[in-house]
Amino acid sequence: MAKTRRARAPSPPVLRGGVPLLGVLPALARDALGVFERARPLGDVVRLAVPGRRLLFVLADPAHVRHVLQENHPNYRRTPFHDRLKTVMGEGLVTSEGELWRRQRRLLQPAFRAERIRRFVETMGAVAAELVQRWDAAAAAGRVLDVSREMSDLALDIAVRCMFGQERRGGDAAISAALHEVQVWLAGRFWSLAPDWTERLPAPANRRFRRALATLDAAVGRIVADRLAAAEVGDDLLGMLLAAQGEENTGTDAGQVRDEAMTMLLAGHETSAAALTWVWHLLSLHPEVAEAVGDEAARVLGGRPAPGADDVGELALTRAVVQETMRLFPPVGWFGRLAAGPDRIGGFDIPAGAILALSPWLVQRDPRFWPDPARFDPSRFAAGARPAPYTYFPFGGGPRTCLGNHFAMAEMLAALAVLAPRFRLRHASTAPVRPELLVTLRPAGGLPMSVERRARALAA
Ligand code: HEM
Repeated sequence: MAKTRRARAPSPPVLRGGVPLLGVLPALARDALGVFERARPLGDVVRLAVPGRRLLFVLADPAHVRHVLQENHPNYRRTPFHDRLKTVMGEGLVTSEGELWRRQRRLLQPAFRAERIRRFVETMGAVAAELVQRWDAAAAAGRVLDVSREMSDLALDIAVRCMFGQERRGGDAAISAALHEVQVWLAGRFWSLAPDWTERLPAPANRRFRRALATLDAAVGRIVADRLAAAEVGDDLLGMLLAAQGEENTGTDAGQVRDEAMTMLLAGHETSAAALTWVWHLLSLHPEVAEAVGDEAARVLGGRPAPGADDVGELALTRAVVQETMRLFPPVGWFGRLAAGPDRIGGFDIPAGAILALSPWLVQRDPRFWPDPARFDPSRFAAGARPAPYTYFPFGGGPRTCLGNHFAMAEMLAALAVLAPRFRLRHASTAPVRPELLVTLRPAGGLPMSVERRARALAA
């Protein structure tokens, strides 16, 4: 009997580039989000012309995003971009798949539940409070701060303190520099056609990257080795990771712990730093919202220098500001999936091996789902308001949704609760602020801002 065959679907529209043979690849390397925006008018499923046999599609419809991340997730895997990340993160949660990913996710998930994260709020607030003196000095001296850099250092301090129980030490500047170097290198390799072996050529960029990676490896290796040698595993995230690994009788594999620790460090600090940087940018453009956020925190803290675990739940406006900021400037501007088998999306055939780009930036700025999308309006996230599914997905979705979303929200709220009542930040330059996607979405060239003490400071 003849098999019934599914009729071939029409081909999706294609966005071609001006460069023969390379298609839109050079444009993707320069400005991936701009390319996605150019694709949107062509349809909800658009093929981007790139060299090679692998097809690349961008999806603009939340229903399609949900299909890939949730409904048909077993068909979707890590991409060659994730393989690039493996050079740094090894087989940690972001890059691994299959049984290893399932086991590690099951082990780590409990440590990241909202109720377990509560215990870190005081530390998060205390780290932010350490900035106050420096910002006071900058305000007194009329010194301009690079807020992008300030937020990176803050988020790195919070991550290192909460995850590894380490105090800020002299070597931190080297770690920050190494983290930045690694990001720049990864961003450069993302769309590169160069084969993997070129990573090992003694080119200056490769040498700088290898040195930076060695610095990070040594720092993380030291932290893990110290802990393994200690009598107690400790009660920070690293301790939870080691304890969980032990309980499962999987034995403590130092290599796996290193990969997870490196993953947490990289996935867990640049993202929150990016979101906080954009919060300051938007608050400066909307001084009335900045005042209300400062007042809210001052009221909730009632004169205490930093928030406790119960306070962050009370910061409704601040939370809405953070959510609206991540709508306009999602720290992870896009991420990808590779189709293991064929699929059909939006009436188009997606062949096995195709890569799908899912972009919070694209969907969260689409006027079909967000009226007047460019307008900053925190009331979109007022208490009780829930965006329609997958019209808002800064933390991804489905089984591989961000592990650190509660951690990230807690640290952003704790940091703002400390800083917003005390300081008013203003753009120090009239040059337009241009978003640039390295691994995360940041203001190109940093965010120079002047700091002022807020007059209505912390009246109890
Ligand atoms: C505002 C801050 C953050 C944003 C916007 C963010 C965003 C994301 C997104 C979009 C994904 C999913 C990527 C995909 O599906 O391919 C993800 C995954 C992940 N994130 Fe976050 N993240 C943030 C903070 C954090 C923090 C603080 C941590 C750790 C402490 C963390 C750890 C992870 C891990 C481990 C994964 C991989 C999960 C898995 O595949 O099972 N993230 N994040």
